[in-house]
Amino acid sequence: MTSNGRRPRVPIDVNALGYQIRKAGLLPAAYRGAMGADVVRHALANRRFTRNNPAFAVPPLEYLFETQTTTDLLRFQLGGVERAQYILRTAVEHVASETLRICEWGCGPGRVVQHLPHLDSSRRVEAFGTDYSERLIEWCQTNIADVTFAKNRLEPPLPFDDASFEMVYSFSVYTHLSPEVQKHWLDEHLRVVRPGGIVLFTVHGDAYRTRLVPAELRAYEERGYVVRAGVDEGGPWYTTYQQPEQVERDLVGDLDVLHRHLNREGAGRVQDVWVVRRP
Ligand SMILES: C[S@@+](CC[C@H](N)C(=O)[O-])C[C@H]1O[C@@H](n2cnc3c(N)ncnc32)[C@H](O)[C@@H]1O
Repeated sequence: MTSNGRRPRVPIDVNALGYQIRKAGLLPAAYRGAMGADVVRHALANRRFTRNNPAFAVPPLEYLFETQTTTDLLRFQLGGVERAQYILRTAVEHVASETLRICEWGCGPGRVVQHLPHLDSSRRVEAFGTDYSERLIEWCQTNIADVTFAKNRLEPPLPFDDASFEMVYSFSVYTHLSPEVQKHWLDEHLRVVRPGGIVLFTVHGDAYRTRLVPAELRAYEERGYVVRAGVDEGGPWYTTYQQPEQVERDLVGDLDVLHRHLNREGAGRVQDVWVVRRP
């Protein structure tokens, strides 16, 4: 007991708890519980959002949670617009072209790609989205206008000709793939962007070290990466953490890196962003 008669608080090690849940095979149950709680937490605000935005295509909440780990609709919409603006700025900065053909790979329920055709009135933007999830792509095809959607598989190829795009980008997709499969995809993305075109992707970098348990941290430091495998690759529970040096060595190699936004700190859990150019 403490001096005020209360039991002392035992701090919970969230990482260790998560590790044990994963090891005990309880992830599906923990995931369902977390989603249920999140739906309740955002219910009122989401009702207000749908009332105020009647034209906004609201994905099923399980699709939101699966791809964003939250069902917060306002965050889904604002985050999508902000990312789409960032993609257009990056494309305009690095690729000289009247028309921008841009493909989002791993687009989920279209959070970002749906905004691309509508944000820059000074040029023509042709937007494409792909994902390996049949459900997500079917939902996008039915609910999002002005974007061409297609399904791919866990491994390449994409259903597009060589040099089809000025830019291919992905947010938080490499984070769910092994380094080997990431490499196959980067090669494929370079195939479908035109010479001089760019590829943007994100990974869990040093900012996520605080999520790792000691054994994982050791592997991260020794090998440069660690993978939480044992579940389906590509799914939300399969997660890869990798140091910038490993990305440089094993993924990017000799490519021209136009931009690297590396987040060294744990706060905010921001993924590292890499932008490379096809020679
Ligand atoms: C964390 S979600 C991010 C969704 C979206 N990029 C966003 O930022 O809102 C990861 C997405 O990658 C997709 N994905 C995973 N592996 C993939 C693969 N090999 N090819 C295409 N999509 C994949 C998943 O289906 C999911 O939609």
